[in-house]
Amino acid sequence: MMERMDYVRAILGDAYAAAAQHEEAEVFMPSNIALVKYWGKRPGVLNLPLVSSLSLTLKGYGTKTRLSLSHEDSMLLNGKTLSQGDPAYKKAMDFLDMFRARGECYRIETENNIPTAAGVASSASGFAALTSAIIKLKGWDVPLKAQSMLARLGSGSAARSFWDGMVLWHKGTRDDGMDCYAEPVTHSVHDLCLSVLVLDASEKSVSSRDAMQASLATSPMAPEWPQRQAAHLDAALKAADFATLGQIVEDNAVLMHAVIQSAVPAMSFDTAETKKWKDNVQRWRTEGMPVYFTQDAGAQIKLLYPSAHRADIEEKINAAGVEYFTVAA
Ligand code: PMV
Repeated sequence: MMERMDYVRAILGDAYAAAAQHEEAEVFMPSNIALVKYWGKRPGVLNLPLVSSLSLTLKGYGTKTRLSLSHEDSMLLNGKTLSQGDPAYKKAMDFLDMFRARGECYRIETENNIPTAAGVASSASGFAALTSAIIKLKGWDVPLKAQSMLARLGSGSAARSFWDGMVLWHKGTRDDGMDCYAEPVTHSVHDLCLSVLVLDASEKSVSSRDAMQASLATSPMAPEWPQRQAAHLDAALKAADFATLGQIVEDNAVLMHAVIQSAVPAMSFDTAETKKWKDNVQRWRTEGMPVYFTQDAGAQIKLLYPSAHRADIEEKINAAGVEYFTVAA
């Protein structure tokens, strides 16, 4: 089975582990929300997914990262210096180790304009930004498809953050990961809005990585997930109207959470607010409003609707006094 270093070398070629050509680099990368979810990994160290997935990029919402050469490694996250024992510090430095020339040390200064680690996909923008920053610091010319393949090693969903609009991440079938990459897709359903409701901005108790591992190892529904998810993806790509796409998006999130909730021991990311918003969405639909929800490994609910209904939906969110932001795609 391929090691991470061999994989990085295969992608970067001669540039691999070359010294940085610049003192510092600053980048911004957006996050993304999966319409059809990535949930489950194949064996090995290359972070290869069990399923392909489809996302919408959160243009303007994500992570700003400044990476500079320094006399020792350090990391600042949202203005706070992280200790070497902090899991976020370890994950970031472990990622940079793959690119480190002999004796090179880094200072990472990173800021999210979305809540960190609360299921608003900050790991997607975080690792997309770290990938983009190290490539810029090194002075390398790396195509976006290859950048997405590198970012995946930090966080799977980061592979989808390199383009605007809808992005398809192919799981591939090869053990060496060379056919596992993301690319932008054009879809026949246009003018979508996604409102991300921040229902609980506290750090979540279980990481998506741990929940993924535990739920797929123990849920009695796990064996069915890859086939049903693939059918959702196929149908989502072919959907010719908003209601068809929206229903698939909601069904897929519900199915992923059913896998999570049926883990042994059972797990749930829902709070009372999460449940209330799911009920709201389903009730508004019976009242004729075309709106569907999705949910990741956290309490937040994301609403998907045609942009023509933006004012109506935002009025409902404002009336509830919930913090949110909306992206149009
Ligand atoms: O990229 P990770 O390892 O944080 O996993 C993300 C998993 C979900 O957000 C729940 C689904 C997805 O496709 O983004």
